[in-house]
Amino acid sequence: ITARAASLEDYEETVKKAKEAWKVWADIPAPKRGEIVRQIGDALRQKIKVLGSLVSLEMGKIFVEGVGEVQEYVDVCDYAVGLSRMIGGPILPSERPGHALIEQWNPVGLVGIITAFNFPVAVYGWNSAIAMICGNACLWKGAPTTSLTSVAVTKCKQLFQLSALSLNVVVCLLLCRTAMARDERMDLLSFTGSTKVGKQVALMVQERFGRSLLELGGNNAIIVFEDADLNLVIPSALFAAVGTAGQRCTTARRLFLHESIHDEVVAKLAQAYAQVRIGDPWDPDTLYGPLHTKEAVKMFLDAVEQAKQQGGSVVYGGKVINRPGNYVEPTIVTGLPHNAPIVHTETFAPILYVLKFKEEEEVFAWNNEVKQGLSSSIFTKDLGRIFRWLGPKGSDCGIVNVNIPTSGAEIGGAFGGEKHTGGGRESGSDSWKLYMRRSTCTINYSKDLPLAQGIKFQ
Ligand code: UN1
Repeated sequence: ITARAASLEDYEETVKKAKEAWKVWADIPAPKRGEIVRQIGDALRQKIKVLGSLVSLEMGKIFVEGVGEVQEYVDVCDYAVGLSRMIGGPILPSERPGHALIEQWNPVGLVGIITAFNFPVAVYGWNSAIAMICGNACLWKGAPTTSLTSVAVTKCKQLFQLSALSLNVVVCLLLCRTAMARDERMDLLSFTGSTKVGKQVALMVQERFGRSLLELGGNNAIIVFEDADLNLVIPSALFAAVGTAGQRCTTARRLFLHESIHDEVVAKLAQAYAQVRIGDPWDPDTLYGPLHTKEAVKMFLDAVEQAKQQGGSVVYGGKVINRPGNYVEPTIVTGLPHNAPIVHTETFAPILYVLKFKEEEEVFAWNNEVKQGLSSSIFTKDLGRIFRWLGPKGSDCGIVNVNIPTSGAEIGGAFGGEKHTGGGRESGSDSWKLYMRRSTCTINYSKDLPLAQGIKFQ
């Protein structure tokens, strides 16, 4: 099977169609739009295994993770259905008699959604389900290396018929990304991907005073204090560092261990790594599959080499696995300083840097010293420490966890991060506001014209 890359002419036609579709879609009452999103969720439920399986085949993540991300799309559809009856603004008290002060929320219009290879279904789902109930038309550009999944999601028969009004998909490369970023007709551009590309996209959008929603890189840390329950720590670190072969934006890349438990945790973690069943991602028994591309293997090897040069010791893994496919060993590196350049670099591969600390204050600062600000976790039983971690001098990330891993966020919360992660929020909570524009409306229903601030202009 092959997917043809769209040309700029195809792109042009798709944008025109999307703009036309918006005229109809925006007039449909929000709860009715929600009803359509509900049916999309149902269509996905019926196809969840086959779509999950295609994700696994094309992206390389294990089957349960493939199904898991279709589940995220199903969940966010359910969430959006409820939201479709709840979005709205307050009526605020006016300082003037006979005046109403109302917040009105309207769709922005056309939402461009650019997604990455690592979550080829879920991230599109978070964006489109919410954008649709808000009354927007959507145009999706999936990753070039997961085109079949993009096509399958939109062709999911029912889904395609139901949503023809407001969903459009283009399978295209760099060409379309730049076109979307520069295109004044793109009222919001949601971009998920690397910080490097995200910055280029954001600058192009900013140049035309457009709106962007960015979900970029992470360099997520787990901090384990001396009082932590190690029965939670080991499986958490394993899932966060090795799950999806280290290719989540929420993957744990730094593991800070209190010096008193450092050696014990490293030994236990290495034992756990040794039990990870490596194999064909389609095999239900497999926990760990290949990397997505040959380039990723090269980046993995480069990073391991740099870690060694900067003073690190590879205590587990570090090599390419000798079997067909892009398999590398899940890797643990110890002994690096917290501020080694490689530790501050997001390498999209399963390499975990284990670092030693003494004090809460220093380790909170080390958590925050990287450029990215996506996800973070501590393991402790100390209530005071937990609230300091959540507070102004605690984690500066968008996702701040306690006694759970950095990855595997639920759709009900707002998902995203600060600093070089881009500041965007998607999915739950009040993220819907980013897909709408707010009007502050003042209506005079009296026969007088009192001015604000008591000004007399006579
Ligand atoms: C991503 O890697 O782009 O929290 C998103 C998680 C998933 C989403 C990851 N729910 O790990």
